[in-house]
Amino acid sequence: MHNVRKITDDLYWVGGDEHRLHLFENVHPIPRGVSYNSYLLLDKKTVLFDTVDWAIGRQFIENIKYVLKDRNLDYMVINHMEPDHAAMIEEIIMHYPDVRIISTEKSFYFMNQFGFHIDPEKCETVVEGDTKSFGKHKILFVAAPMVHWPEAMVSFDLTNGVLFSADAFGSFGSLDGKLFNDEVNFDRDWINDARRYYTNIVGKYGPHVQSLLKKASGIDIKIICPLHGPVWRNNFEYLLDKYNRWSKYIPEEKGVMIVYASMYGNTENAASVLATKLVEKGMSNVHMYDVSKVHVSELISETFRYSHIVLASVTYNLGIYPPMHNYLMDMKALNVQKRTIAVVENGSWACKVGSLMVQTLEEMKNMNVLNEKVTLTSSMTEDNHLEMDSLVDAILDSMKDK
Ligand code: FEO
Repeated sequence: MHNVRKITDDLYWVGGDEHRLHLFENVHPIPRGVSYNSYLLLDKKTVLFDTVDWAIGRQFIENIKYVLKDRNLDYMVINHMEPDHAAMIEEIIMHYPDVRIISTEKSFYFMNQFGFHIDPEKCETVVEGDTKSFGKHKILFVAAPMVHWPEAMVSFDLTNGVLFSADAFGSFGSLDGKLFNDEVNFDRDWINDARRYYTNIVGKYGPHVQSLLKKASGIDIKIICPLHGPVWRNNFEYLLDKYNRWSKYIPEEKGVMIVYASMYGNTENAASVLATKLVEKGMSNVHMYDVSKVHVSELISETFRYSHIVLASVTYNLGIYPPMHNYLMDMKALNVQKRTIAVVENGSWACKVGSLMVQTLEEMKNMNVLNEKVTLTSSMTEDNHLEMDSLVDAILDSMKDK
């Protein structure tokens, strides 16, 4: 049965929720599901903005048929070719063989690579700044390369200020009927999934997001329609501030995340002692994460959130404990930068992990690694307590506005 929402007088959400998928991109856990958003404009011509994943294909077709009634589908705008949005292109063509497809040159190239069979006569290639009228509505096409793939663009309705923002401003999490940002408590219920989505999916491409934000600042946006998560119709400052910080790698909060890798609880004990000392000295925004238990996508998200990171790790096979190594590799791959880092290392006979972690951090941009370091040889000692006090002082000192 159809399940749609009206956004404006002539624009409908025709997407759907995915509750069954455990891992987005087969990597990132999505316990709250995810939505695949698609939008249908009923103007003199009818225009579909992006499609959806296979998983909700039946719902999607029912939605489109319900909204179109007896009308044909004239155009399909593909802002982003990744299969979670483009999988249904061929099915749409099967249902509406006269539909014309508007997208970028690279997007059509990718469609070919993915094996889509599309008549070149039905394709209309657009570039940055092109516009097209569909009746009352005139759409401006704006390139958005690497947000999140190179072919991506966004579409802006010059008539009513609706921005079809592709992956930008999206989030993990299923909508469950609540389409608009003001129908949910975003800061309470959605921000963690939005941050985890941004940082893990688009986080690497901060400069490209900055470029898109600059373009967006020049247009009068009234509604933002992303391809995942809620549609935004107010409170843009909140969302833009988050995107500005994330894409500039500026922490959201002054705080300490302690990521620890512990085999028998001794490194965890050191992490707890450190947390206690920080709180006792007035820094209570302290959070501990067992690197073996907390999914790396969550660790990455929190890394974008906090200003200070303490890496506390046991030595393993004369190297970095594997889950900690995985976290560091993900940090590097996602271009994490501008953080203050402290190191706590442990090794019962050949403590290598501290220098190896620092070496990896030095391969990242603008990481301030504190000189103060705590070295454990199996478990905490009284001397370690003194080292820990110095480390706490160094962390707090680095937090002072200079
Ligand atoms: Fe939601 Fe880059 O696809």
